[in-house]
Amino acid sequence: MKEKIEEIISYVKEKIETIEKSSDCQNLRIETLGKNGKITELFRFMKEVPANEKQALGQLLNTAKQQVESIISAKETFLQSKELEEKLMSEKIDVTLDLNPDEVGALHPVTIDFMRMAEILTGMGFSQIDGPEIEYDKYNFELVNIPADSPSRDMQDSLYITNSILLRTQTSNTQPRAMEKIKPPFKVFSFGRVFRKDDIDATHTPAFHQLEGIYIDKKVSLADLKHDLSLILKKYLGESTKTKFRASYFPFTEPSVEVDAECNVCKGKGCAACNGAGQYEILGAGMIHPHVLELNGIDPNEYSGYAFGFGFDRFPKMRYKIPNAKVMFENDVRFIRQFK
Ligand code: PHE
Repeated sequence: MKEKIEEIISYVKEKIETIEKSSDCQNLRIETLGKNGKITELFRFMKEVPANEKQALGQLLNTAKQQVESIISAKETFLQSKELEEKLMSEKIDVTLDLNPDEVGALHPVTIDFMRMAEILTGMGFSQIDGPEIEYDKYNFELVNIPADSPSRDMQDSLYITNSILLRTQTSNTQPRAMEKIKPPFKVFSFGRVFRKDDIDATHTPAFHQLEGIYIDKKVSLADLKHDLSLILKKYLGESTKTKFRASYFPFTEPSVEVDAECNVCKGKGCAACNGAGQYEILGAGMIHPHVLELNGIDPNEYSGYAFGFGFDRFPKMRYKIPNAKVMFENDVRFIRQFK
């Protein structure tokens, strides 16, 4: 029996030298200590051994069992840590890879232009507020006088997430949001992305930027709107840029206006940038509809207000002569790098 045990132990010692993967250690463990393993089989002889030898043999076998286990687990631990090290080395991420210390990021052209506009507006007493891009139907439509059955909903083909939640189609969602939070008088603006179901082409993208301005106080009039907007546009587009106010319609303003600006590329002659029109539409505005004030808990007999909404991608497009609207939304660093 002793010889048998020694034979097995030297077999294990020999075999362990040839093992290169930690998973193979388990195979050797099964082969020796498993249910039908070589050592386990020796334990079965115990039955046949005379009673007075049983204890000595039992001790012998148990020692052998422990010895085999410790040979195997020593090698197993060694291989496991080696394998882990190799794995870590192979998966190592070199965070300094391709780092060019001279490379500084650039702001997106829309951000650059928005920052200019924000400076003008804050200089005129407006403060910035935010509105969510994922919005309740209530704020995007209901509370700005566009009820469920209104044909005006067709003007803004919406991307719905659930029956009552959509990607906002306009920054005008910040009108009810502002009226809910702030007591008049207030003067605020809000900027961000809006979304409409649109196929992508040179002038259309399903996401675009708008800037909303809202002023509510006692006795705000159309004259204030015209004065303030003219000033904003002069500062923003330059003193010499001609602008034109014309009557329009929005469900949440009455009266409503739209403002066109002379194309600053061709100075009104008509060119590719303005689709030959010599001018381009830059914003919608108007006196906030008394019903909208009422819907949002403001007494229209006491307060009045104006609101305006710029489509904000056109300015950087014109200024930097960007021929395609799509590149504005792709976040391609090759495009953005040009605006340093
Ligand atoms: N929300 C309008 C649009 O998306 C623009 C607008 C804003 C008009 C505020 C009037 C007042 O077309």
